[in-house]
Amino acid sequence: MNSSLLKKIAVLLAAILVLIQFIQPERNTGLALGENDIAHTVVVPANVQEILSNSCFDCHSNATQYPWYASIQPLGFWLKDHVDEGKYELNFSEFKTYTEKRKTKKFKEIVAELEEDEMPLASYTWVHKNTVLSPEQKATLLAWAKRNYELRMKHAELKVIPNEWCGKYKPLED
Ligand code: HEC
Repeated sequence: MNSSLLKKIAVLLAAILVLIQFIQPERNTGLALGENDIAHTVVVPANVQEILSNSCFDCHSNATQYPWYASIQPLGFWLKDHVDEGKYELNFSEFKTYTEKRKTKKFKEIVAELEEDEMPLASYTWVHKNTVLSPEQKATLLAWAKRNYELRMKHAELKVIPNEWCGKYKPLED
């Protein structure tokens, strides 16, 4: 490849980089804790809520706290991708709208992800050091998710699930 062609390619790439700055992807700026959030359907102790908000909500809720570099493309697109995918898999802001079966499955997945140290995503904790789960935080979150999973499985056999929050029993939807 001759150098004038390389120069042209470099200029073209630079122009594309400048142009894409004008395209800003839509942001996830809803309400993290609204009427359908997880605390409206499952008991979420304050310390668990704090861990979820701090380490999981950026990708698994309706409200992301955006870092400054989210305005720089293509980083913003890359972030949007994570948020879209994370919310699609698990959205704590919409947890109440899930079927009982799906809620149970999500608790099982949370346990698995934590046990394998898969969440929060490494590419994220690398930049957001304060979101790394301490051993205590991991243990707290794991115990909470396990307890919910086990409780739900046990009561699924009886076709009812306990709602510790309001002390009533609710029939299983499916
Ligand atoms: C930087 C964004 C990000 C953060 C922060 C994050 N996740 Fe995720 N999460 C994702 C993405 C993306 C997926 C889907 C792709 C995958 O499974 O890797 C996912 C998937 C999941 C799944 C579903 C996995 C499956 O079996 O399909 C669970 C459960 C989960 N995350 C739990 C958590 C918990 C709990 C936290 C906080 C401790 C957390 N995540 C923090 C981005 C994130």
